[in-house]
Amino acid sequence: MKSCKKCFEYAYVFVGGDVRFCPWNGIVIGNLKRNTLEEIWHSAEAEKVRKAFVRGELLGCNEQYCPDCINESTTLDIDEEDLRRLYTDLPEIPSQISLAYDERCNHACPSCRHEFFCASKEYLEDLEIITQNIEPYIGRVKHIATNGIGDLFVSHEILNMLSRFRPSDPEFYMFIETNGVLFKNNWEKIKHLANKRNIVSITPNSFDRETYKYLAGRDDLEKFEESMAFITKLKHEGAIGRIRIIMVIQDSNFRQIPQFIKKCIEYDADDIVLRPIFKWFGMQEDELLYKNVLNPCHPYYQEYLEVIQDPICQDPRVYNWGFDVEQEAIPFPTLEMKRKYEELKNSDISEKSGINELKDKINCQTSENYNIQKQLIYQMEVNAELQKQLFNEIQIKEAMKNGYSWKLTAPLRKIRRIFKK
Ligand SMILES: C[S@@+](CC[C@H](N)C(=O)[O-])C[C@H]1O[C@@H](n2cnc3c(N)ncnc32)[C@H](O)[C@@H]1O
Ligand code: SF4
Ligand code: SF4
Repeated sequence: MKSCKKCFEYAYVFVGGDVRFCPWNGIVIGNLKRNTLEEIWHSAEAEKVRKAFVRGELLGCNEQYCPDCINESTTLDIDEEDLRRLYTDLPEIPSQISLAYDERCNHACPSCRHEFFCASKEYLEDLEIITQNIEPYIGRVKHIATNGIGDLFVSHEILNMLSRFRPSDPEFYMFIETNGVLFKNNWEKIKHLANKRNIVSITPNSFDRETYKYLAGRDDLEKFEESMAFITKLKHEGAIGRIRIIMVIQDSNFRQIPQFIKKCIEYDADDIVLRPIFKWFGMQEDELLYKNVLNPCHPYYQEYLEVIQDPICQDPRVYNWGFDVEQEAIPFPTLEMKRKYEELKNSDISEKSGINELKDKINCQTSENYNIQKQLIYQMEVNAELQKQLFNEIQIKEAMKNGYSWKLTAPLRKIRRIFKK
């Protein structure tokens, strides 16, 4: 029967203290600011999900995003009898906890957020409370995962908790998610947890300086590379067991997939994850459409299919999180995109238009629309000089200086042609 063991063993602690069974299951079974972990684990909501899972109904699961569902993982083939046993032998508390309740990060990847996260006083107070309420349990679990929602190494509360913590289970292991940059400088704080079962998952998205800078929101590829080399060294020394390196496939990095895989192999990665971009947090529908080259209507789709024909994509280390799964075709451009484009085209934008006037026209003043603005600028028939200034304005000065404008504008022409149809 198709089901999943997560609801019998896993607790995912999310921002604000909500607890769920898994990152891709949306049902909240309680909140750590109001309840103890035991209360949450045995709550009516938790029971409802478990009963559904025993019937083979994946209640609340987003099967389009869940890697096990996408890969039709054999871990989801569970005997009815085993399911009933898991249900009756439910442990007092989960054996695995994911600490994903702090979204602070040293990066601002456009796939994930529009700006650097700035914590309010209330946010920090919440962090304290959640940490206090989860800390008594972590010594009793077999596995801790952190930080699927931000970066562990700027999350002082979680990092300090881990530095205080001594696991009692000899089989204990960690799964650390990070962009990798601050790993080397902070390893000292968690090195007592070193062991061969640990997994470190790192997302650089690109190894090309300009692309990296754009996709991380910060120009620290060199620091990343230094830290990444350190992670590889730790693996060779046995302090960690597995390295997983991730690329979220987008319009700006998909052409680099083969080089990306090669570089990951140099870092001795065990899993090279190619994952499609999802609609994440504040990402708007338009923004996703521009970025998602797996959409069969996207202007780069055919080119994407050619790129993934490279034999290196068949390397056994490549973990398929749906990079070759055909997605539903979503019309591109949408009527709204066409309308905006017409508006811009007819709006008397010329060499003489001042930057501010232009920015007003495309509503460029708010950082929320950052990605859409950039894409709109691509579409505009402004002269190269003006475009250059606009790019400067949105902080990709370096990219232009290094001749990157060609890479940015060539694909643009393709989009423009489609818009003109
Ligand atoms: C939010 S991050 C947190 C962990 C860590 N900071 C990192 O970047 O790996 C968790 C995972 O989500 C991925 N991610 C970010 N934005 C995404 C999006 N829009 N669609 C799919 N995955 C995304 C990241 O690449 C990373 O693998
Ligand atoms: S989303 Fe996937 S991993 Fe999560 S509980 Fe459902 S089936 Fe299991
Ligand atoms: S994807 Fe990871 S590194 Fe990038 S902003 Fe989000 S949490 Fe930070």
